[in-house]
Amino acid sequence: MNVLVTGGAGYIGSHAVRQLVAAGHRVTVVDNLVRGHRTTVPPHVEFHRLDVCDTASLADVLRRSQSECVLHFAALAYVGESVTDPLRYYLNNATGTISLLDAMRQANVKRIVFSSTCATYGDPPELPIVETMPQAPINPYGRTKLLAEWVLRDQLAADPEFAFVALRYFNVAGCALDGSVGEDHSPETHLIPIVLQAALGLRDGVTVFGTDYSTPDGTCIRDYIHVEDLCAAHLIAMNSLSPGKAQFYNLGIGRGYSVREVIESARKVTGRAIPIRFGERRPGDPAALFASADKISQELGWAPSITSLDEIVASAWRWFEAHPRGYGDTR
Ligand SMILES: NC(=O)c1ccc[n+]([C@@H]2O[C@H](COP(=O)([O-])OP(=O)(O)OC[C@H]3O[C@@H](n4cnc5c(N)ncnc54)[C@H](O)[C@@H]3O)[C@@H](O)[C@H]2O)c1
Repeated sequence: MNVLVTGGAGYIGSHAVRQLVAAGHRVTVVDNLVRGHRTTVPPHVEFHRLDVCDTASLADVLRRSQSECVLHFAALAYVGESVTDPLRYYLNNATGTISLLDAMRQANVKRIVFSSTCATYGDPPELPIVETMPQAPINPYGRTKLLAEWVLRDQLAADPEFAFVALRYFNVAGCALDGSVGEDHSPETHLIPIVLQAALGLRDGVTVFGTDYSTPDGTCIRDYIHVEDLCAAHLIAMNSLSPGKAQFYNLGIGRGYSVREVIESARKVTGRAIPIRFGERRPGDPAALFASADKISQELGWAPSITSLDEIVASAWRWFEAHPRGYGDTR
C-alpha cells in the first residue's frame, strides 16, 4: 500500500516507517522537523519537510505519492508545554489534524490511523481504563487530541467512505530491537530516557515527583508499551480500516509499573548508579494509569510481545549507550 506518514521523523514515527517498509509498503514521510530528526528517515523513503497545517502542499504530496492511507503521528506532545502555551498546541495538533483531513478530502484519501492518547481520559474513575470510559482530559494536550477524535467522528458521519482508527497510546517506551532508531527528544520529558541519561552521567539524577500516592510504593504507576509492539498495532489497524467504520483502541500492556520500579529496573539493566531525589507531586499527575488492551486483542488479534519492564528498559539502554547524544544532528 502507499502510505503517508506524518511525523515520520519523530520517535514513534521513525519506528513505524521501518516496520512499514519491512512489510513492503511504499512510504512517504511528511515532517516539519520541529521535534524530529531528518537522519531517521531511510534514504530510499521519500521525505517532505512540510507542516501539516500547509493544506495545499499536503494535498499535493498526497496526490503525487498516490497515498491510500495516512498514519498521523505529527503532533506536539509535552503536557507541561501545552499548559504554558495552549494556543500552540491547539494550532498544531487540532488545526493540524483538520488541515490534514482537508488535504485528504481534496486528494480523495479516505483512510487514516490517528495517534491519540490515554491523556484523553484524564483521571479515570477506575482501572484498568477501557475505551468506553468517559474522556475528560485534564490538560490542553489531551484536549487537542480529544478534539481531533471528534473531528474524525464528524468527518466519518459526513462521508460514508471515510474510515479511521484512533489508537490511544499509554506510555510508549523502548527503542528498535535492531538498534537502528531510538528516542531523542529535546527537552526529554519521558521517565525511562531521563533515568538512562542519569545512568550515563548526562544528568545529575532523577527527581521522583511524589512518594505519597495511594500505590504500593507511593510513586506513580504507568503502563509502558514497547514502541515496536505499538507500531505493529498500527500495521494491523491499517489493514482493518473499512469504509464507514470508526474504531477506538487502547494501546498498553495492561499492567503498570511504578516510578521506583522503573528506576530499579534501570539500575539492574545498566549496572550504574542512578541518584534520585524526592520532589513534590506534580499537579495533574494521576496516581495510576493503565490500560485494558482487551478490545484490540479481541477484535484485531494484537497482543504485546514485550511485557517485561527489564526488556523494555534494556532495549532503550542499548540505544542510549550507543548514542549518548541522540542523533546529534542539526535537524
Ligand atoms: N511518546 C508517547 O509516549 C506518546 C503517548 C501518547 C501519544 N503519543 C502521540 O504519538 C505521536 C508521536 O509521538 P512521539 O513521541 O513520536 O513524538 P515526537 O515529537 O518524537 O514525534 C512527533 C513528530 O511530529 C513532527 N511534527 C510535529 N508537529 C508537526 C507539524 N505541524 N507538521 C509536521 N510535522 C510535525 C515532529 O517534528 C516530530 O518529528 C504524537 O501524536 C503523540 O501525541 C505519544
